[in-house]
This record gives sequence, structure tokens and C-alpha cells, in this order.
Amino acid sequence: MKILITYSSKTGNTEKIAQAIHKGIPTANLLPISEIVNLDYDLIFVGGWIDRATFDQTALTLAKQIFDKNVAYFFTLGAYPHSEHAKDCVNNIETLLKNNNNNILGGYFCQGAIDPKLISWLSTLPSDHKMSPNEERKKRWEDAKSHPDQLDLDKATEFSLDIISKHK
Ligand SMILES: Cc1cc2nc3c(=O)[nH]c(=O)nc-3n(C[C@H](O)[C@H](O)[C@H](O)COP(=O)(O)O)c2cc1C
Repeated sequence: MKILITYSSKTGNTEKIAQAIHKGIPTANLLPISEIVNLDYDLIFVGGWIDRATFDQTALTLAKQIFDKNVAYFFTLGAYPHSEHAKDCVNNIETLLKNNNNNILGGYFCQGAIDPKLISWLSTLPSDHKMSPNEERKKRWEDAKSHPDQLDLDKATEFSLDIISKHK
């Protein structure tokens, strides 16, 4: 069975999850999306970081090109995994994959530290701006800093084994 684990990652969080998935399935090909040669696989794990409640542009472009496959997805996001925002991300990504007639075997996601450059920029916004740092937001950014942590990575490895058992 040919398996691809592919990902887009700007600051390394999603790459760590991809590596943890690969730890569970060492025979799979692990490639950043930019290095994929073809999509000739029996099962594709596709991962990205969240930008405006869906896959980032690189992962989005790839996901739109995957048709009629067994797929699993993964992502990291700045928001809490149990938030409504995370549910929106799941819905957006699953809708995208289902629209192309793919068979979704499952998904995994966890928080990921937010790029300090983005935080610096957000901190310059005037206090009446809808994205300006308030106490709730600052706490979330602080909480995100330690992710993905070892537990997130262990869960990603477990996720990969679960997907493989479903695919057999
Ligand atoms: C430009 C930009 C937009 C982002 N948009 C969102 C968003 O809409 N929702 C969210 O929860 N996190 C958002 N994030 C946070 C990232 O998804 C998160 O930090 C992720 O773990 C980054 O993964 P990476 O290290 O693999 O690049 C955004 C980050 C950046 C830089």
C-alpha cells in the first residue's frame, strides 16, 4: 500500500505533526507539498496550518487537486482545539475534500505556536480594531506557545495508527 504524508508548514508546527504521523507509518513517503511529484498513492495524509479558518493557501491548492482518494487530514491552529473556530476549520476542510469525492478516514488537529511576527504586528493595531490584543486573545497566544507539545505529537502518532487500522 502506497501512503503519502504531505504538509505545508510556515513556522514548523505542522511539520512536527507530519513527522509524528510518519513515526506511526515509517514506510510512508513524507514530503512537503512543494516536493510532491505525483498523487499516485492509495492513501494520502494532507496537512496544513490554518489561515482564516481553513487550510493555508499551499495546502488548500493541493487539497483541491485530490480526487477519489482515501484521505486523512491534519492541521495546527492558533485557536483552541475545542473552540467553535476549530469546528469551522474542520467543516471547511472536510467539505473541500468531500466535494472531490474523497473518502475521509479521519482528521487530527492541535494548537500551534503563533508566528511572533504576526503577534508583533497585531500588537500595533489600535485598541478599537477587531483583531487588537485583548486579555482573552493574549492568553490564547500564550497558551499556544508550548504547542505542539509531546502529548500532541503522541496523539498524532496514535491517529496515524488508527487511520491505518481503518484502511485495512
Ligand atoms: C497569516 C496567519 C494567519 C493565521 N490565521 C489563523 C486563523 O484563522 N485561525 C487560527 O486558529 N490560527 C491562525 N493562525 C495561526 C497558525 O495557524 C498556527 O500558529 C499554526 O500552528 C502555524 O503552523 P506552522 O508552524 O506549521 O506554520 C494564523 C497564522 C498566520 C501567520
